[in-house]
Order: sequence, then structure tokens, then C-alpha cells
Amino acid sequence: MRFSTAFSLVCLAVSVSAHAERKSYAIPETQHGVYLNSQQHERARRLRPRADGDAASGPEEIALQHLKEIAPGAEVRLRPDQYTDEDTGVWHGYYTQTLNGLDIENAQANVNVNKDGTILSSGSSLLKGKVDAPPIVKRADLIDPIEALKGAIAKLGYPLNVENAEAVPEQSLTGNGQAYVLVGVEGVQEEPRADLVYYATGTGVKIAWRLETDLDESYMITYINAKDAADVVGAIDYVSDAQYNVYPFGFNDPTDGERVLVTDPANSKTSPNGWHTAGDVTYTDTRGNNGWAQENWDGGSDFENNTRPDGGKGLDFDFPCNISSQDSRSYTDAAITQLFYTSNMFHDLLELLGFTEAAGNFEEVNTGSGGIGGDAVQLNAQDGSGFNNANFLTRPDGIRPRMRMYLWNTAGSILRDGDFDALIVIHEYTHGLSNRLTGGPSTTSCLTTLEAGGMGEGWGDFFGNAIRVKPNDTRSTDYVLAGWTNGKGIRTYPYSTSLLTNPTLYSTVGTTGFTAVHSIGSIWATMLNEIMWNLEEKHGYQRDAMPTFKQGSSIPVGGRQLAMKLVLEGMKLQPCRPTFLSARDAIVDADKALTGGENECEIWAGFAKRGLGINAAAEGVTGLRIDDFTVPEQCKSNRKRGVLFRA
Ligand SMILES: *[C@@H]1O[C@H](CO)[C@@H](O)[C@H](O)[C@H]1NC(C)=O
Ligand SMILES: *[C@@H]1O[C@H](CO)[C@@H](O)[C@H](O)[C@H]1NC(C)=O
Ligand SMILES: *[C@@H]1O[C@H](CO)[C@@H](O)[C@H](O)[C@H]1NC(C)=O
Ligand SMILES: [Zn+2]
Repeated sequence: MRFSTAFSLVCLAVSVSAHAERKSYAIPETQHGVYLNSQQHERARRLRPRADGDAASGPEEIALQHLKEIAPGAEVRLRPDQYTDEDTGVWHGYYTQTLNGLDIENAQANVNVNKDGTILSSGSSLLKGKVDAPPIVKRADLIDPIEALKGAIAKLGYPLNVENAEAVPEQSLTGNGQAYVLVGVEGVQEEPRADLVYYATGTGVKIAWRLETDLDESYMITYINAKDAADVVGAIDYVSDAQYNVYPFGFNDPTDGERVLVTDPANSKTSPNGWHTAGDVTYTDTRGNNGWAQENWDGGSDFENNTRPDGGKGLDFDFPCNISSQDSRSYTDAAITQLFYTSNMFHDLLELLGFTEAAGNFEEVNTGSGGIGGDAVQLNAQDGSGFNNANFLTRPDGIRPRMRMYLWNTAGSILRDGDFDALIVIHEYTHGLSNRLTGGPSTTSCLTTLEAGGMGEGWGDFFGNAIRVKPNDTRSTDYVLAGWTNGKGIRTYPYSTSLLTNPTLYSTVGTTGFTAVHSIGSIWATMLNEIMWNLEEKHGYQRDAMPTFKQGSSIPVGGRQLAMKLVLEGMKLQPCRPTFLSARDAIVDADKALTGGENECEIWAGFAKRGLGINAAAEGVTGLRIDDFTVPEQCKSNRKRGVLFRA
């Protein structure tokens, strides 16, 4: 175990290719749905008190009434995938518009009805009024589905051969529908299916063959005008359309709001093949290039064959979850999905910020820019090997790291699942980041001294806090770590820029209560929190935690994203076994390298406020830490001192 170091959240545990790009096809634009949010519905209710129907009606009647108002004359069918959400009691109804007994494929609505019969929100792309559509025509007036597929091949370049194909009639899903299976097509994974539908084009509707073709890398639904094979009226690639029912990135835990369906969150730059494809292998479960997530109830070291939720071909990871249930196994699929989602988001964010393949990040197949593959993170949800904690085992580049997430029973008698606490997941993952970056990707033993190990803990807390910052937060906002999961939090003080709420200074390191890695780390993270708020005030808030960059540079626009970038770049510069002093200097240098030192004074002000000013010193390796509150000369102007002493 020479290279292995496992870090945990609460206490230090034992030390334990070439790729083909996925082909994408030109996809014509289709109409967008219009969303009426809860405020708009509330306003409508105030103006017209009985607009939503009365409580005696079921949600279906209430929803139908609403659709009649927003799209008079439209015929709709309620799809069978309607359901009532267990957490919120909200009924979700999904509708497709019909005409002459055929679906208008891309004219849809969804209505979300509260338990009390009021409408929470709704969305619609239904066509209003009289729809200008060709009538249902005889089969002889339409092109053959094989001709339609030929049109798709010619226009979109599907790698298929239809020379020996023929269309065999099949059961239709709708009233007046016609459906076929296309047998003898070469190049598909499954025999294509053709259904006759209407398709809204913006100016009216066309009658079209809906072709479903599994091209392996892409699962295409293509709409070809049933009267003109050269007219591709629409196309959808199902493979890229992954969706996850999760607490979105930026939520710290379930107290921040409800789960939502997130569509295609993978970043196209850092996960160009999505989250479920590693090299030539595509998974439909929670495995992919950046992480493999599964339950590990038995706490063992095997994980390959442990249970994972399957999203099917459509990569639809929408699983029920009653977060208040004491039966954690009733929501394992949702927990694994959440762990997979949070870890992949963080992978993408870190790679954008500079934790690249060459820098030793965690990927199964590196997509061609250096580094060693074979090390997507093993992500164990509901791991049975422990309670009230989590840990991360980092090994050198090319060797798979392991994250174990536990259940918690410290919040009174309530059971909590750490998989839903984003900060815990991010904290653990950050151990991988700091271990790979400090001293180079092939060394993971550079954070093994007490002070460096302490910073290892602090970096995890810092990243978790930076990601949870909300639009209305200010430097006066305090952050408790694992408050939802643990009940009262797991650090001595909340993260705060107030010296009253959190009085820790550099000299606190090594004093009573601050002699172990997590408490020492909390001092380091408090300093980084000061710097983050100085940068937030200077550069402003950018809502999306994912960074956007100043044009032509790798300088994030938003303050907290810039803070994360500088902290990450500092890790690359600092020596093996860094101290607070050398890690501080590395962050200052990272800013010099990235921006020419534009943020030097904000950085120094943050450190100096907490005793890590230019003359701070340590007596020997484990001796006293001596505070200094001085910033460099060039930062002593009034304007800059303001930053130093505010709050
Ligand atoms: C997982 O299942 C595969 C196929 O059944 C088997 O070959 C492999 O040994 C299993 N792995 C473990 C760790 O049990
Ligand atoms: C969720 O679980 C809690 C606690 O067991 C229970 O009281 C509640 O009824 C459950 N909610 C639903 C919608 O099943
Ligand atoms: C944030 O502040 C704005 C403006 O003061 C306010 O309207 C909004 O309700 C606040 N949002 C939250 C979540 O507190
Ligand atoms: Zn930790």
C-alpha cells in the first residue's frame, strides 16, 4: 500500500487509447415548449379565483380544463406515464396532441397539479385553433417507409444499407395509425420501426414517417415527410438525451429544494461522449467514462457486479425517492443516480478549471490528451462498511480511486443518506484532486503530513462551499457542513467571514481542538472562504457553478469560480508536503501566472485577516504558528485595506 492513501470526511482512515468520436447528425430545430411557472399560475388564480377547478375534481380534470384554456380546440391524449410524486404529492400529467386519431408528435403539454387541486406549473407546445394538416390519406398516396429511411440515409448519412429491406406491418400505438417493422436493414442494432404521425413544423403540420433506428452510437428518431422522402422534418438523438431526477448541482442538500429532471448535463468539452460511454463501450446504467456508481450494501471490495439503476436506451434516470423514508433501500436507485450525477458534474467542472487528463484526472478512457486512463472513480452508494462518514482512496494516475458514501444516523433518530449531501461527495472527490495535483499525477503521497493532510480536508470543504453559494448569499452568509446529514454539522465552527462566528487564525493550528486533520483543514478552508468572498465582491456572482471564461482566456468570469481556479492551480504549483505558508504562496503565484497578479491584494487580504500575512511564520515543523496580519506594501492603499478589514 505504498502509494495508497485513504482520506475520510470525519477522521483520517488507514493508508490504504484512442477513441472514435461519436458521430452526430444534423438535427433540425423543433418548436420549444412555453413554461408557465408557479408565480404566473398564482397570479392567474388571484385574478380568476376559480380558474383551476375545484378540489372535488381530480388532477386529470383540472389539467384538462387548463389545457382547454391555453390551447382552445386542441385534442389531447393523456399519456400513460403520468404519476404522482411521492415527495411532494404533485401530480405530473403528460399530454400529446392528436389529430384525426394520429399523434402530433412534437405538440405536447405537461401540467403539474398540487395536492390541493391548484396548478403548480405547466408547459405547452400545443397548437392552438384550427390546425392546417393534410387529411389521413390512403396508404397508396404515401411513400413507403423504406423510401423514407432511404431519405434519412441520403440526408443525414446514417451508415445503413437497405437494399434487401422490406416493411412488414406491425401493431400501431394510436387509433388511425399505421406501423411497420423494417426487416433486412443492415447496420442497425435492432430492426427499425416506422409509425405514421403528424409533425408540427411551425407553419402547420406535415404527415410523416417516424423512423426509430438504433445506430448504436446514436439512437435516432427521424421524421421524414410521408409525401417527400427528401424532406427531413425532424430528428432526435435519444442517446444524447440523458436525464436524471436529482437535486441539481449547486444545491447542497435536500433542504435547498426539490429534485428536478435535468436533461443532458454532461459538458460537451470535458465529457464529449456523454457520461455513459467509455471508449467503445456504452452503458445504459450508472457507469461511464468518469465514474461507476453502484450500491455496496455488503461493504465489500467487489463492485463490478453490484446493482446499478438502468436508464435504458433513453438514459432516463428518473427514480422515485421519499427522502424522509427510514427505509434507505426504497430509494437506492435515486441515491446512486444522485451520486453519479454529482460526481460527473464535479468531474466536468474540475476539468474545465484545469484538472485535465494530462494533470491526472479520473477517466476510464482518456479522450486523447495525455494522462493515463483506466481510472474512472468507483462510486459506492449506501456503502455498508461504515456509518456517519465517507472516504476516498486515491491511487496514482491510471489506478481506479474509490469513494465510499455511508448512511448517517446522527441527526436525531432520522436516517440520512450521504449521497444526497453534495458537499460530502465534493469533499471526497476533492481528496482525489489534491492528491493527484500535488507533486504530480503519479504521486499520491504528498499530503501525508499533518499540516498538508489538514489542507487536504480544507480543500474539500472549500470546493463544496464554493459550489453551494446562492444568488442572495453575501460574505455574511455562514455555511454549516453536513447540517442536513448530521443534524448539527461536523466542524467546530460554521464557515464564516465573521471573526466572532469563526475566530480561527493561523495560530489556532495545533491548539486544543485543532490538532487533527479535519480541524486544521477547517482553518485553511476558512482562509480560502475569505478569499472567495473578496473575489466575489470584486468580480461578481455567476449563478452557474460551472465556469464561463473571459474571452480567449482560462480566467473564470465569476468570483467563486475564479477562486476555485486559483486554488486548483495553486495545488499544481505547491511542493510535495506543502504547508499553509507554501500553499498560500502557490495561490498568489497561480494568480500571477493566470492574470498577471490582478487579484494579489484580495488574496493577501484574505490570508492576512486570518493571520497568514506576509510575515507569518512557523517554528520548526510542528512548533508554534505565529500570526501576522500584514499585507504587501502595494496592497496597503485605503481602497485595498477596505477589503482586508471588512466584516
Ligand atoms: C462479475 O460478473 C462477471 C460475469 O458474470 C464475472 O466474470 C466476474 O468474475 C464478476 N466479477 C466479480 C468481481 O465478481
Ligand atoms: C415518506 O416517508 C415518511 C416517513 O416514513 C412517511 O411519513 C411519508 O408518508 C412518506 N411519503 C410518501 C409520499 O410515501
Ligand atoms: C433574493 O433576493 C431578492 C431581492 O431582494 C428577493 O426577491 C428573493 O426572494 C430572494 N431569494 C431568496 C431565495 O431568498
Ligand atoms: Zn476528508
